[in-house]
This record gives sequence, C-alpha cells and structure tokens, in this order.
Amino acid sequence: HGTHRILVASNRGPISYEVLEDGSLQARRGGGGLVSGLSAIGPDAGALWVCSALGEGDREAVRRGVGEDGVRMLDIDAAVHADAYNGIANSVLWFVHHMLYQTPLEPVFDQEFRRRWASYEAYNRAFARALADEAAEGAVVIVQDYHLTLVPGMLRELRPDLRIGHFSHTPWAPVDYFRMLPDDIAGQVLRGMLGADRLGFLTHRWADAFTACCEALVGGLGTTRVGVHGLGADADFLRGRSHEADVTERMAALREQIGEGPDGRARRAIVRVDRTELSKNIVRGLLAYRQLLEDRPEWRERVVHVAFAYPSRQDLAVYRDYTAAVRTLADEINSEYGTPGWTPVVLHVKDDFARSLAAYRLADVALVNPIRDGMNLVAKEVPVVSDEGCVLVLSREAGAYEELGEDAVAVNPYDVVGTARALHEALSLPAGERAERTKRLAAAATALPPAQWFLEQLRALEA
Ligand code: G6P
Repeated sequence: HGTHRILVASNRGPISYEVLEDGSLQARRGGGGLVSGLSAIGPDAGALWVCSALGEGDREAVRRGVGEDGVRMLDIDAAVHADAYNGIANSVLWFVHHMLYQTPLEPVFDQEFRRRWASYEAYNRAFARALADEAAEGAVVIVQDYHLTLVPGMLRELRPDLRIGHFSHTPWAPVDYFRMLPDDIAGQVLRGMLGADRLGFLTHRWADAFTACCEALVGGLGTTRVGVHGLGADADFLRGRSHEADVTERMAALREQIGEGPDGRARRAIVRVDRTELSKNIVRGLLAYRQLLEDRPEWRERVVHVAFAYPSRQDLAVYRDYTAAVRTLADEINSEYGTPGWTPVVLHVKDDFARSLAAYRLADVALVNPIRDGMNLVAKEVPVVSDEGCVLVLSREAGAYEELGEDAVAVNPYDVVGTARALHEALSLPAGERAERTKRLAAAATALPPAQWFLEQLRALEA
C-alpha cells in the first residue's frame, strides 16, 4: 500500500511539459475547476493527482524523473493512449453522451472499434494499478470523467478497502441513445462505474439519465449512491485575474477591433469563447448571427460578433474539418456583410486566457449555445467578471441552464432562426434589467466554487 490519503485520477493533469530547443523541460500549469479544487487540499494533506503523460514533453519528464510533488504522470504506451483517448473516449464515449452521431454513417462498431476498446481497457487498468499502488489503507479516490469509466470497478477488485468516487464532467446520454453501444460494452461501462461507492454528476438531468441506463441495462444501481455537485465559477480568482494588466491591455486592443458605429458610439459585442468543439455548436451560432444581420438591418455596422474558437482534439479529422468550417463561415459573413469600416465577425483561434477574460469584461451579449454540455463554465464566468452587465443567451441543453435558465435568454441550439431572435432580444434588453440579471446570474454561478465542490464530494464519500 502507498501513503496517499486523497487521490484524484484524470486523463489530463494539472501540469504539462514541453521540451525546449536547448533540451530543457518547461512546465506549464493548467487551469480549470479541478486544478483549483485540488489546490485547496494540496500535497501536504497527502493528496496525489494521477494523470496521463500526454505529449512528448510529458513522456520525457517521466523518463527524466522530473515532476512535481503531489502529481504522478503515467507514461502509458503512446499507441495505447491514442487508441483509448482519441479512438474511444473522444470519438465514441464523448459522441454518445453529447449525442453527436450522424446516422446513417455513424456509429459503426466494427472490429477496429473492438481493437481500440482493448486499448481503453489497458489504459484504464494502468490507472487502476497506479492508484492501488499509491493509496494508503482506507484512502479516498475520486476518478474523473469518461476516459476512466472502468477504473472504479478495476480498483475495487485490487483494493476493496478504498472509498471510491467517480465524477462525470459531461452529460450522460438518455438510455435509448446510450444503448447504441454494443450490449457488452454498455454493460462494461456501467458496471465499471458502479464499482464506485458514489458517482457524481453536474446536474440532476445527467444523474437521472445514468440511473435510467443502469435500471434498463444492468438491473439498477446496486449499492452505489449517486449525487449532484454543480461545479461553479471561482469568483475570487476570476475577479482578481481579470483586473491584471495583461487583461486590461487586451481589452483596449479588442475595443479597437470592435470599433464605433455610424452614430459614433462603441459597437455592441456578442462574445463567445469555446474550444473548437462540435458540441459547442459554433457554426449554428454564426448562422444565427448572419440571420440577425439579415432580419434586423438596424444592427448592421452597430454590432460585432467576437468569436474565440480555440483548437481542440485536432488529431481527430472531424474536429479539423469543423475548425475549417468555422473559419470559412466567418469569412463568408465578413465578405457578405462587411464594409470598409466594419468587420462583422472577429474570429480568434489562438488560445489566450487573458484575452478571453478581456472579452468577458466587455461583452454586451454572451452566446453559449451548445448542442449538449455537461455544465459550461463560460456561462458562469461571464456574469462574474462582466464590467457593465452582459445578457446571457444560453442553450437549454447546457447543464448550466438548470441553475441559470431563469435569468438567461433561452435557446434551442438547433433553431438558428430562434437563436437569431434571441440575439436581437438580448441586444435590446434595457441596461437596468441587464445589470439586475447579471447580478443574479453571478450569484447563482458562484454558489459552489471549485474548492467547495471538491470538499463536498470528499465529505460525501467519507460519510
Ligand atoms: C471536457 C472534459 C474534460 C476535458 C476537457 C478538455 O470538459 O470533460 O475531461 O479535459 O473537455 O478536453 P481535452 O480532450 O483537451 O482534455
């Protein structure tokens, strides 16, 4: 047995390494809810984060024995990792839970899928073994996400003494969609997760869907408990970070790009910030914006769509195609409607957190229109940092809708004409009402900050 009392496992860890030209390794710390949640506990309390080496830099760090206290990176064979991460987790499980398959072409569960599934099992087993190795007697382990659904069951067999939790950051598919998976695989996923004492989800909707899958396919939940923990935004961090000098600089640059309308007043900004991700529905967002310009010529020259679409999962061809489609459509709208002094769509694709915060601060409208989303933290972050209030146009299919729906303008993400109307409604909301709503949104968005979100789960597991 190991020495750690609290363990977290996830594919992507809190740190990544890059090999520089002189051969040295440069570390980069990531952001996100889990990182701040765990930093509230830290290595001193005996916490360990087990994650996967992702790139060559990470692998090199493992080989050289470079690392950080409280983090253990697993150097899983690169081909096995690629099959598990790209071939199963991000292509199959992500697609099932976000309902992204396009019948009649997909899904196809052929022999190649079975081969990748074996890698997914091997990758999960590597995590289970490392956790079994590092955990002290009776320790608490919280496994994260769809990459690691088999770990709870595998770990339970190796270490019946542990308290095991699993948390899903994605939606869970409705049973009729979930059972597209081959029966044996669907069963393996559900039974693997049911190896945990307790399963956490972001909303009741996803927790209920999981429970329904278990009832229909594996005879129920057994002794496993299910809980809901709606991860919120980290207000202290966001408010501080968004007032640092680099953010203020980027605000000035963005204001310059947005420019002034014919009336000499600053143009309105409709902002979106996403990974370039199929489920984020960026293309329909652009189509809705084009529809707005078409239906409501009064907004031409007076509004700019600031779209940040940061590259994601570019090993997958469908993501590369999607990235290209976003660029093409943005260019099309600009050539169709643009004038010498007005660029209707300002698209940025290079990831820049400071610039995202700058856009949050100055946004008049935030467009968050995912097809399906576990939570969507952008919807929660914008109201927290907004300078003068921002109207949230929010998909009813985002987990965040459960908490923010009342003060947002709701959209059906597939309905482009409806989304265009919602954008018009959002742009037209009086300033007083907009400020009131933003205040209420910020309060709801910060109800469960990351550190508390994590502690809540620990306590529930220890109870
Ligand atoms: C989702 C998943 C996370 C994942 C993130 C980024 O939010 O729930 O587990 O880390 O996407 O995706 P990536 O594939 O870049 O890790």
